[in-house]
Amino acid sequence: MSDFILAIDQGTTSSRAIVFNAAGQHCGVGQQEFAQHYPKDAWVEHDPEEIWQTTLASCRAAIAAAEISAEQIATVGITNQRETTLLWDRETGEPVYPAIVWQDRRTAEQCVRLKSQGLEEFVRQRTGLLLDPYFSATKLAWILDNVDGARERAEAGKLAFGTVDCFLLWRLTGGKSHATDATNASRTLLFNIHRQQWDAELLRIFDIPAAILPEVKDNCAEFGRTDPDLFGASLPIQSMIGDQQAATVGQACFVPGMVKSTYGTGCFVVLNTGDKALVSSQRLLTTIAYQLDGKPCYALEGSIFVAGAAVQWLRDGLKLIGSAAETQGLAESVETAGGVYMIPAFTGLGAPYWDPDARGAILGLTRDTGIAHIARATLESVCYQTRDLLEAMRGDGANIASLRVDGGMVVNDWLVQRLADTLGVSCERPQVTETTALGAAYLAGLQAGLFDSLESIAALWQRQAMFEPQMPAVQREQRYHGWKKAVSRVRTSE
Ligand code: G3P
Repeated sequence: MSDFILAIDQGTTSSRAIVFNAAGQHCGVGQQEFAQHYPKDAWVEHDPEEIWQTTLASCRAAIAAAEISAEQIATVGITNQRETTLLWDRETGEPVYPAIVWQDRRTAEQCVRLKSQGLEEFVRQRTGLLLDPYFSATKLAWILDNVDGARERAEAGKLAFGTVDCFLLWRLTGGKSHATDATNASRTLLFNIHRQQWDAELLRIFDIPAAILPEVKDNCAEFGRTDPDLFGASLPIQSMIGDQQAATVGQACFVPGMVKSTYGTGCFVVLNTGDKALVSSQRLLTTIAYQLDGKPCYALEGSIFVAGAAVQWLRDGLKLIGSAAETQGLAESVETAGGVYMIPAFTGLGAPYWDPDARGAILGLTRDTGIAHIARATLESVCYQTRDLLEAMRGDGANIASLRVDGGMVVNDWLVQRLADTLGVSCERPQVTETTALGAAYLAGLQAGLFDSLESIAALWQRQAMFEPQMPAVQREQRYHGWKKAVSRVRTSE
């Protein structure tokens, strides 16, 4: 029977593919890491060919690991690192420049210039976003302005723009489909989230020719079919969705007020606000959580740029640890972080500070400070940053009693307990922590008729563990106060 689902999860540091069965259980996984390129201070690039090749290899490996043939796959879903910007030649499929990654800050000055023209409020009303280099529009304009002949070719309709979902779709369909979905479009600064269409005035502000834009579809749609040469059968691609929105679906946060927090390279907290596009007074983002049958479900999002990446830095940069898993034992081996605060603002600060020029720091070092304190402070920084986001959501009127957590880092029990203690709310860890791929799989399955509604998907969600806050409130507040003071030391703007 063909009722397997292939979910592609193209992330910031690795490409993954997972085969699920129709009960949402893992049957096979393929994964490949790829290189991060840092050509200049605060620039981050990926090689588009590597994105493609690692994705393809991961899909083939997942199918092989599931011990099925491609004919047994009913449907394919794609989820992806968002905002990362690609531009390629429609004729040859060749990218004109490396992918500029969401973490890249090269367009910070351009954002300051647009802000000084008083444009932030207008941009915000239309897109729900802020003028920050995080989003795609200024990255795209940078490529058009810095690659010889790119702007002319773009205006002549010879080039195609896309985020990673769209680029992969193009490659998977052998150049037949140039489309994206509403969630990925909602991260470009070019998409009107209220009308669900590209916005002519935004295109003018960012100086982007309309000829390069993809068609925008719902999250469940007919996106195209895979080239039969790739997997030995032509498979329908029936969902595309940005990774944080996919995790929201995988965590079954379908009711307004439900909130999830995903710990990957960064950390992203998404609060379902239903059919209301709430405007944050706390510098959170308004974004599309998912869009089905032309109807958007909105969310408030808090985006932190560095979470798991800080642990990766302890391992690969400082070489203080041999593996990420060691941080749990190290954190447990000391009573406290010894007054040490680690602020991982390697690529600036995201929500709620939005300070692209801030840089990281480790504060409070003494002669007694050891590796264990630094490891513990690094994990704690992930908790404090999440608290910053929850405080902002509370400031916007949200009443958050529990948080569904997922992503690679939440296998660490100490971290999740610390999170509950720092936030003062219960943290629920689901049975499947690969919620990003799961969300894309669910939506593809919905389009293919393997699931009949969001309710039937929600019924599959299962809690694996619940972490209740145990730290006395006074201690919680004292420590958080220390964090706020530490952050104020690295900020460059108010
Ligand atoms: O907005 C960036 C986000 O989509 C990246 O997610 O999972 O690679 O940290 P991740």
